Amino acid sequence: MTKSLLKSRRDLALGSGAELFYDTPLEIVRGEGVYLYDRDGRRYVDMYNNVPCVGHANPAVVQAMAEQQGTVNVHSRYLHEGIVAFAERLVGLNHEGIESVIFSCSGTETVEVALQMARIVTGNRGLICTDSTYHGNSDLVGSLSYLGCPPNQTGEIRSFPFPERYRPLKEGLNEDELCAAYLAEVAARIESLKAQGSGFAGLIMCSIFANEGLPDIPAGFMSRVTDLVHGEGGLVIADEVQSGYARTGRWWGYEATQFRPDIVVTGKPMGNGLPLSATAARREFVELFRAKKDYFNTCAATPLQAAVGMAVLDEIERLDLCNHVAEVGARFTGELERRVDRYSSIGDVRGCGLFISIEMIKDGATKEPDAALTKTLSNRLKDKGFLVSYSGKYHNVLKVRPPLVFSHANADEFLEAFDECLAETHE
Ligand SMILES: Cc1ncc(COP(=O)(O)O)c(C=O)c1O
Repeated sequence: MTKSLLKSRRDLALGSGAELFYDTPLEIVRGEGVYLYDRDGRRYVDMYNNVPCVGHANPAVVQAMAEQQGTVNVHSRYLHEGIVAFAERLVGLNHEGIESVIFSCSGTETVEVALQMARIVTGNRGLICTDSTYHGNSDLVGSLSYLGCPPNQTGEIRSFPFPERYRPLKEGLNEDELCAAYLAEVAARIESLKAQGSGFAGLIMCSIFANEGLPDIPAGFMSRVTDLVHGEGGLVIADEVQSGYARTGRWWGYEATQFRPDIVVTGKPMGNGLPLSATAARREFVELFRAKKDYFNTCAATPLQAAVGMAVLDEIERLDLCNHVAEVGARFTGELERRVDRYSSIGDVRGCGLFISIEMIKDGATKEPDAALTKTLSNRLKDKGFLVSYSGKYHNVLKVRPPLVFSHANADEFLEAFDECLAETHE
């Protein structure tokens, strides 16, 4: 069957609005480690997918999945040692204020649980997020998406400009003043929620602001905003769906950006592809939530999730992926940073472990975003066998976020192709 026929069938079966990457979509039939293969046997270096964190078709994970499914898989209303052990291990990887966990199946669900938990614990309704974020797609969670900062916000959600140094909120401030300026934005949102009677339940933020484009955060912002939120009686929710599980070279993004959240939500990489997510918090918060909600999620907290979740943690430890990511990510980011001076279209390179953002601009003086070039580059890189995508407030940030087993050699291959693409587009 031709690709165009498959595309037409897909449009009818799934709806033509179901997004596909790249001008010429890829038909992927197999994966192994960091590589994906199309129907013609062409190999691509996957530099986008953070779900298969320990590699596509990781044999240890596949074996754990098959063994557990071949033994038993039931819902969570039975005792099962594997589930308890997995929950204990997961909270043990967090700071000591994180004690118990509620499992679910997707990032959206786990964020939903966290938001509801913050409301139950505080007895308040008001929530704050950034202006360019995405945390999932349910009615409540989806209402946090890409809000911008419209004046006179109403309702129970407020958004504030995400903290960054590349396009700062105000020019001419030193880093401490810039940090204070962003904190003032958050404080104003809290005030406005309180003034309208919603009260303040909490602030949710991705620990590295991944969907915002991985900004350079003014020093001290994360710990100072945590203090601010606590001072106002709210909870801090760290969305670790993208930043967790060794992505930053630390177990958690909040370790990399240095703050202590009250609620930690994890998803995507937890099951290496098996739907698995978790909301972890102080035992008291989890108990309050459970007492109020009687939460049940049919395919969550199952022996299958536990077995696969354990296998993923085992692989991260066996392969020493925290250190591997820190080492490969630092060298790779350094190489990319050297290109900022060589190519006028690269405005900035920001890296945190194996999450790297390359900000494409039209003009160094104005920093005008170049979304068209970013898209062109992602298509050209695909043609050369490297899969990346883009994100950020202006869709002008090349997003490099490979499986954690990505190597120095993979980085070198990419740099060669990237230089070729940049040379072509600079002609
Ligand atoms: C930071 C963040 N949180 C939550 C989600 C939602 O996860 P899911 O697609 O599994 O519902 C996403 C998805 O991209 C995300 O980037």
